[in-house]
Formats: sequence, C-alpha cells, structure tokens
Amino acid sequence: MKGFDGRFLEELKNKSDLVSVVEKYVRLEQRGGNFWGKCPFHHEKTASFSVNSVGQFYYCFGCHKSGDVINFIMEMESLDFNDAVRLLAERANMKLPEITYDDEKVKEQKQKKNRALDLLRDTAKFYCNNLRLPTAEKHNAYLVKRGISNAVALKFGVGASLNFSSLPEHLKSLGYTYQEMIDAGVVGEKNGRYFDELGGRLIIPIIDRFNQVIAFGGRLLEKADFAKYKNTKETFVFSKSNTLYNINNVKKIKNERGLSDLIIVEGYMDTISLVSAGFENVVASMGTSLTKDQARIIKRFCDKVYISYDGDFAGQKASIRGLEILKEEGLEVKVVALPDGLDPDDVIKKQGKEGYQVLLESAKPLIDFKLDILKKTFDVNTVDGKRKYVTNAIKVISESASSAEQDDLLKEVRNVTGTTFESLKRELYGLEKNKGEEKVVATPEFTDDVGDKTVVASRFILASYLFGKKYATETDIKSINFSLPVHKEIQKYVIERLESGQTVRFNDLYEIIGENEKQELSRIAGLETDENKKFDQDVYFFDCLRTLKIEEINARSKRLSKMFKDETDTEKRRKLAQELSQLLSLKNDLNKNN
Ligand code: CTP
Ligand code: MN
Repeated sequence: MKGFDGRFLEELKNKSDLVSVVEKYVRLEQRGGNFWGKCPFHHEKTASFSVNSVGQFYYCFGCHKSGDVINFIMEMESLDFNDAVRLLAERANMKLPEITYDDEKVKEQKQKKNRALDLLRDTAKFYCNNLRLPTAEKHNAYLVKRGISNAVALKFGVGASLNFSSLPEHLKSLGYTYQEMIDAGVVGEKNGRYFDELGGRLIIPIIDRFNQVIAFGGRLLEKADFAKYKNTKETFVFSKSNTLYNINNVKKIKNERGLSDLIIVEGYMDTISLVSAGFENVVASMGTSLTKDQARIIKRFCDKVYISYDGDFAGQKASIRGLEILKEEGLEVKVVALPDGLDPDDVIKKQGKEGYQVLLESAKPLIDFKLDILKKTFDVNTVDGKRKYVTNAIKVISESASSAEQDDLLKEVRNVTGTTFESLKRELYGLEKNKGEEKVVATPEFTDDVGDKTVVASRFILASYLFGKKYATETDIKSINFSLPVHKEIQKYVIERLESGQTVRFNDLYEIIGENEKQELSRIAGLETDENKKFDQDVYFFDCLRTLKIEEINARSKRLSKMFKDETDTEKRRKLAQELSQLLSLKNDLNKNN
C-alpha cells in the first residue's frame, strides 16, 4: 500500500519530539545534547541506549537498534508502520490525511471489520429487546435483586439471552452468514448446530471508546459450579488486554466536562453500581491484572487514578504489578482500601454511597499502601518479623524518587519498629548504593545540601588530596578539570606543594586562603568525618573523577550540538556530527568502565 505523503510525515515527526516520546517508556537522563537510559529493546543493567535530540534518532550501543520516532513506536508498541503513524498522529492531535489504498487486501479487511461491528451492534440490539419480553422474567428479577434500575440498564445497554438458538436464527434473518457470526465471537458451532455462546445469560455489552460494540460479558443468573462470567472470545475486533469497560461513557464525560481522575475497578457490576451511585468516572479492567495497553489508554484520559479493587486483592502479586504499570505510565496512583472480601459493589450496597465516598477520600498513595501490606505480612513484635519488615520496607521506600517522601516513609517505619531514623536511612543508602543499576555516581549522604553532582565530586576529590590519601596522591591532579574558581585555587595549591616536594596540609591551606573561600574549604573538610567511613573511599574517588570527565564531555557536546544546529554548510555539519558521535562513544566507554 502507498502510505502517507512525505509532507505529512515530516510534520508528524516535527510534532513528535523523540525525547518526549521515548521518555514515556524509558527513564532518560540528560548528559549534554544526548539522553541516556536503559534500552527498552534488550535486557540490560547499564544504560547504553542513547537518544540524540538534535538528530532525532536513537541508538543502542548494546543491541545496536537504531531509528527515528516512528521506528521507535513500531518497536515499542508492536505496530506496523501505518499504525505507528496513526498512534503518533493521535498523540500529537494531528488529523490523518486520507490514505490511498492500493492494496485490495487492506480494503477487504476494513470491510470485514465493519461487517463484524455491524453484526455485534445488531446482536446488542437483539439482546436489549429481549430484556423487554415477558420471557425475560428471570433476567429482570436478577436486575432487581442487584439493584439495577431500568434507566441504568438502558444506559449500559444491558440485555438478555433467553436461549441458545434464537440469536443465530435472528442474525441469519438479517443476512449474516454463520461464519461471520463465529468470527465475531457471538455464535459457536457443534456437530453442525449453531448456538449462542452466551445462551441464557444476562448480557453486558462491551463498548469501545468509539462507541462500537466489540464484545459481550454474560453473567449466569444463578450459582453454578462453572464460571459465573463468560466473555466473547478474543476476535479481530476485541482484545481484552487493551479494553476497558465503560470507557465510552468516560470519554463522553471527559469531552463534556473534563476528567480529573478515574476510579479503576475489577468488574462490570462494580462499574454499574458505582455509576448508579453517582461515581461516574469509573472503568473496569475486567479481571485483576492491568496491562500496559490499558494503562496507556488511561493515561490518555487523565493523570490520576484510584485503584478500587476487591478487598483481598493485595495478596495477589499480579495486582500490585498492575499498579506498577500505571506508575510507569506516569500516572499518580492512589489505592482505595476496601474491607476484606468486599468489592465496590458490595460497599455501595452495605454502606451506601457515603460509605464509599469516605473510603475514596482516605485512599493512600501506592507506596504507603505497599508498606501497609508489609505491616500486615510480618509480625513486627518478633525480632525476625521486625527485621524482615524493615528489609522489605526499605526496598519499597527506595522506589520513591523524592527524598522528602523517603524521609516521611522512613519515619513511619521508625514509628512501627522503634528502629532509629538514622540507622534506617543508612540501610536505605546502602541499598541504593548496591543497586548499581543507575549510571549516576552514588552520592553519599553528607551532600544533601548541594545538588550539583560535579561540585560534590570535585569536593571529594580535593578532600582526598588535602588529607593525603594514597589513592589520590598516586593520581595526577593536573589532568583534572575543576569548574569552580575556588576549586581551581585549591588545585593550584596542591600542585605547587607536590611539585616542590612538600606534603599537602589542610591546615596550612586554611591559613593562607581568602575569607570567602574558607566556607567552601570547610565544606570540603567536612567530608573527612566519620560519616564517610562507611563506603569505599577509593572507589568513590574514581567515581568522582569519572563524573567530572563525563560532565566535561557533556559540556563539549552541548556546544557542538548548538554549533550543529546553527551550521548550514553540509560538509561542516557532517564533521560536527562525527565529532559528536565520537564524544558519545567516549562517554559510553566511561560509563561501561564503571
Ligand atoms: N471475570 C471474567 N470471567 C470470570 C470471572 C471474572 O471475565 N470467570 C471478570 C469480569 O469482568 C468480572 C471481573 O472479572 O466483572 C471481576 O470478577 P469478580 O470480582 O469475580 O466478579 P464481580 O464483578 O464481583 O461479579 P458479581 O458481582 O456479578 O458476582
Ligand atoms: Mn461483585
């Protein structure tokens, strides 16, 4: 097929900045004109995936995958070129130009899809009409029992299957073939007989965000030894993993009055029940474990979600994983703690909408919720239980990116266990240092007050010289490029001393240095306290040297990138690009040699 025209693609690429697109999937860290992260295409511990924002291309030094923003989306989302373009266009709010198909097959597929959607809509109408028949007595009684009013049933398009034979007969009379019914998932065949897959059940249509009926959920009216719900099988128009129940109504709300947050529940009945009670911003994941696709869809609707799963869901690892997926999409996640054994529908029934409102308002951030689970899992009154609780809690806390939040959580652990804050903090620091997955040099605790990595690194390096550390004096200080003037001053002093064969003495320097520099010198001296004895100083020293080198390269590549942008001469541009890529690989080597 022909595809999209060049001008459109150009505009699409301009509007889809590669760095922002990649950042939705990979945590990137800027170093100069380039961004680095862990490669999403192969498993790795160190960051060798680079994104060049100037050239708008990515390259992985590990698996050698490379490409532009469209290639990236094709890989990440398992989409073909056209679908990747569609997705990017949707994200960039761009209208798609008319696509010219010259491939009959594509046209045929589209027709087949439309035909299936028509069939599913006709099926939904049929089920809905059934519900108004006197023969649907049991179905109506069931709705009454579950507190679903006629109006609500209508809103959700709830219907009834009265037997196994009338759906295929009805669809046949509308001109559909049996094969079409089977392909759409609503009819099955056994020994030459065709039957309604959801025969006898209460029917809940699943409607996508384009208001198309794509599948059905069918609930048994009575208790049985087999599953109470049966859904339409996966078809070419229905995939459970990228579907959210009630997304059609939520989309309407979003468009009409905006949407600040979404409540995510497990089931159809939870959704219907909450909506009837006035909580309209609800979708159901239709089972427990959320998928990445579902999370991505949600992210397109709002930035904040309330997880309102059945009271006992925390015990299931898959559920927690589902919540992580939401966080990875950049959503703010709060967890509504429901009483054990109750789902949202039960809460509404038992405690009314006010009861649910209270639970909603006391929802906790995911990380707090995880700590709560740990508290329930381990008995902190025993020595062993307490130790396990602390170890696991520290692990959870280390996931937080905010040090203020980390401190708050550590205090909570302190309150539960009676362990001192300082020792918890040390344990957290130890864990973060050992993780070693970030290519950022581990920064010791005493640097809380300073943000700049290079400044911290410079201080430590200078302290090592000033206090005559062996690993330092064996390293040539002349080759180090400090950026702060005061650090350059100290460097000069150290060089002079060493070259004239004298020992470097901190106290001597303190006497001769200017008043203004004394403050900085005190900071450097502060590093030589007991505090920093708990990590390998020589290892950290070389980490610091590397940090400075990387920063130097970054500054240089930033300059080069700018020159590259401003340069119009093709040959000069080519040379600049070459130089940039050399810097890139130099930096990559530095990172690898960690
Ligand atoms: N589900 C399913 N198939 C099953 C069980 C569950 O597809 N055999 C999905 C349905 O979407 C269901 C959701 O998982 O709504 C949650 O299941 P569950 O909590 O067991 O059901 P409830 O929604 O509480 O059902 P009900 O209140 O009708 O008993
Ligand atoms: Mn229920």
